[in-house]
Amino acid sequence: MKRRVLFVDDDPNVLQGLQRMLRSMRQEWDMDFAGGGEEALRKMEGTPFDVVVSDMRMPGMSGAQLLQEVARRYPSTVRIVLSGHSDREYILQLVTTSHQYLAKPCDADTIKDTVNRACALRDLLTSEELSGVVSRIDSLPSLPSLYTRIIQILQSDDPSLQKVGEVIAEDIAMSAKVLQLVNSSYFGIARRISNPVQAVMFLGLETVKALVLSVQVFATWDSRKVRQYDIETLWQHSMTIGMIAKRLAEMEQLRTSEADDAFTAGLLHDIGKLILAASLPDKYEQIVQDCRKSHLPVWVAEEQTFGTTHAEIGAYLLGLWGLPTAIVEAVAWHHRPAECPARTFCPLTTVHVANGLWHEMRHSECQDMGALLDTTLMEDLGLQERIPVWRSACKQILGSGGK
Ligand SMILES: [Fe+2]
Ligand SMILES: [Fe+2]
Repeated sequence: MKRRVLFVDDDPNVLQGLQRMLRSMRQEWDMDFAGGGEEALRKMEGTPFDVVVSDMRMPGMSGAQLLQEVARRYPSTVRIVLSGHSDREYILQLVTTSHQYLAKPCDADTIKDTVNRACALRDLLTSEELSGVVSRIDSLPSLPSLYTRIIQILQSDDPSLQKVGEVIAEDIAMSAKVLQLVNSSYFGIARRISNPVQAVMFLGLETVKALVLSVQVFATWDSRKVRQYDIETLWQHSMTIGMIAKRLAEMEQLRTSEADDAFTAGLLHDIGKLILAASLPDKYEQIVQDCRKSHLPVWVAEEQTFGTTHAEIGAYLLGLWGLPTAIVEAVAWHHRPAECPARTFCPLTTVHVANGLWHEMRHSECQDMGALLDTTLMEDLGLQERIPVWRSACKQILGSGGK
């Protein structure tokens, strides 16, 4: 089926330029062009679009207003900003209204790649209800203790950026958000960044301050909404998996950048659980409670209820936000690594192994009994004799209380 893509810009030359530049995509995309926000909304009324690519600064309805409206009316539409303005004001609007940011001038390949990848990710989630839920998310709740710590550091007389980075790197939601920002082409960084501390260094104190204190994209968890779902446990588990995955990457001599990918992928691997618990709290609480009684793996129960699991849901959000592919892949296939086309020891393998060994060792506390190690895959990769070595490294990290 052809993808429907709508481009919005008040400058007719820009629209004509896009039309010319993307002519080769006519077989794959149904493209339409609108000269402003009002016209765009009128066009969307007929048949909604899969993707909207909009300029930010436009007379009348601004890009931010348009994208906000699109998010409200058509939550599953992917929202991309294509803008030539790089004021701080815009980058802060970006984080609450769009999924990705592209800087003008933008070449055809980047636009094609961004739109196609966003659409491919949408295919991962077949449920219209869930893709709507996920596309609507602009931020996720942080662990209250970490959130308070960030505020304290930022409000102190001489806040240390390094300290801010270290606290953010302990939090699933804040890490995902700073990585979305830093990897947007607004910052024009050639390589993708997957280390949250590095991301914070790059953003600088002023932007981080604005994010936390004025735009408030980092919200704290409302415990009244989700009583049963034990978020402290999820955080502990995620942080530990990040550390074990990084350790395994180092043991298998992956590059430093891949070890960073491994850590972040581990930290974020269960972000889908956070999405479900925050967005559909009643349904999700029921699933978690049922699993406790029936000892069914959580992801199997999710599949029965939603037709998909927290792995795909998490990967969908991170992909929409433009996080590095290695991280998105690791999140998507962390329970079923054999389904990923990559057949080498990579960040995905480290997260799968870390998660499998963790569940093996913490069997009594675990809520995810099915998360076992795929030993057949390890044999295929010729790595089965490494398992005992990994197991003792994992024991060491768990024994040290995950320090
Ligand atoms: Fe999981
Ligand atoms: Fe997990």
